[in-house]
Amino acid sequence: STRAAAPAPRRWRQRAPLPSPVSAVAAEAPSAASPFGAEAEKEKEERQFDWLDQWYPLAPVCDLDPGAPHGKTVLGLRVVAWYDRAVDEWRVFDDACPHRLAPLSEGRIDDKGRLQCVYHGWCFDGRGSCQFIPQAPALGPPVHKNSKACVASYPSVVQNNILWFYPRADGEHQDILQRKRPPFIPEIDDPSFVAVYGVRDLPYGSVGLQLRCVGGEPHGPCTCPLRAQGADGQASQEGRPRQISLYNMPACLT
Ligand code: FES
Repeated sequence: STRAAAPAPRRWRQRAPLPSPVSAVAAEAPSAASPFGAEAEKEKEERQFDWLDQWYPLAPVCDLDPGAPHGKTVLGLRVVAWYDRAVDEWRVFDDACPHRLAPLSEGRIDDKGRLQCVYHGWCFDGRGSCQFIPQAPALGPPVHKNSKACVASYPSVVQNNILWFYPRADGEHQDILQRKRPPFIPEIDDPSFVAVYGVRDLPYGSVGLQLRCVGGEPHGPCTCPLRAQGADGQASQEGRPRQISLYNMPACLT
């Protein structure tokens, strides 16, 4: 879904890059003739990888109840996913009410389809704008329209039946979907394939995870080796691949 810019305070801040020592700068400028040139370039590219310029899957949509908000943590960022029935789209907000930072994931969807904070009842529309403050006098100033009463709304989209979000909520990135989309997996949408969704928290870094199902029989045991790898193909867990065995895998996964 794409939305108009929502005024929002941001908590993400990218650190300014540290100045490189002269010796490091020299090392980063391989000559064209250097046999290590390509390798150094690749290393440089990896160092420049922007973790906040990526789409991240939040959950398979089939796991989300449209009648309730869902709290998730991605990259240490706490967000809440909720279904905005006014436009038939899923939204992803900061999981912090702008009033007193209460988790919005503990709130509810009110009878008008807005996300309502459980603590003092502030209500937010799909763009993160506050629409109602129960304690505000009906004939008083429209305090709910103050920009400080808005919650950060992230770009989000459902693709491959998965809810994705982009972890930058500033106005500059609200149209990110037109420039960059989440990775598309055609087999998931292909009716000749069977797609089974599952979410597990595993003790891995986010640089990569390979999953391979190598055997099993219907309703029998199955062993799936899992290995964490960095983008360069090297193991990322203290330099060693970590093996995990899964047992009693459902037949549909074998
Ligand atoms: S903390 Fe959310 S309305 Fe007060």
